[in-house]
Amino acid sequence: MLARGVTAPFRANHVLKRSMSATNVTEKPADVVQVQIFRYNQETGGSKMQVFPVDVNQCGPMVLDLIVKIKNEQDPSLTFRRSCREGICGSCAMNIAGSNGLACLKKIKDVRDGGKVTIYPLPHMPVVKDLVPDMSGFYEQHKTIRPWLELTSEQAANPKETLQSVADRKKLDGLYECILCACCSTSCPSYWWSEEGNKDYLGPAVLLQAYRWIADSRDSKKAERVKQLSDGAFKLYKCHTIMNCTRVCPKHLNPGKAVQKLKLEAQHFSH
Ligand code: SF4
Ligand code: SF4
Ligand code: FES
Repeated sequence: MLARGVTAPFRANHVLKRSMSATNVTEKPADVVQVQIFRYNQETGGSKMQVFPVDVNQCGPMVLDLIVKIKNEQDPSLTFRRSCREGICGSCAMNIAGSNGLACLKKIKDVRDGGKVTIYPLPHMPVVKDLVPDMSGFYEQHKTIRPWLELTSEQAANPKETLQSVADRKKLDGLYECILCACCSTSCPSYWWSEEGNKDYLGPAVLLQAYRWIADSRDSKKAERVKQLSDGAFKLYKCHTIMNCTRVCPKHLNPGKAVQKLKLEAQHFSH
């Protein structure tokens, strides 16, 4: 015999389904959006905007649903990154309706311009294919800030945990949540126009990450980290406080403020 908690909802569902099929359920009328997507083929070097009509009443609510539907039903060669579909992995970052963001978190209704939605890859990055940017330069820059905890030799030799007070842990809020999607850096004009393929100015994402380790009470290399960022005129100081970065962050972080805090740290260590 089935437990009562299982049978009751099953019956309710069953009755609901029957009554729905008995009523004459009318489908929503088609609402077709012209989705304009940047296409790029590295082998031929050819790029173009391609338009895909999609009935958004037959599609999930998010921009990621839209492009998955296009790939499934219209063009399997359409290329983009995605993984978690819930704003955790950062891989679906792209430029949607003129603003950087995560396709899985942007609602179609918020980005459609009448009957049109426009989608490009993240700006000012080399493109591998369609909506897939080459992130290797960005990751190289991230490596330079040594994004890991550096302990003293005594701490490292001690098999016990390196403890942190509740107040010190709180200082990492607003920093540790960064998913390195690069939405902020690729909306920063200083980062776009940085010389040598963006290698000199680290940009807001990597600088926020740098600050994350500098602000960590357990780290033993604060002075070295700040000095490394202060060396050279560009790594840190090319930020002109335009704040585009903070406006687009899909995790509602404030990379612009983190850059300003880094500048204060640099000032402090220079005296
Ligand atoms: S700060 Fe925000 S926009 Fe920038 S990389 Fe991190 S999560 Fe993405
Ligand atoms: S505040 Fe700095 S890092 Fe952010 S967009 Fe402006 S120049 Fe770039
Ligand atoms: S798919 Fe992971 S953040 Fe969008």
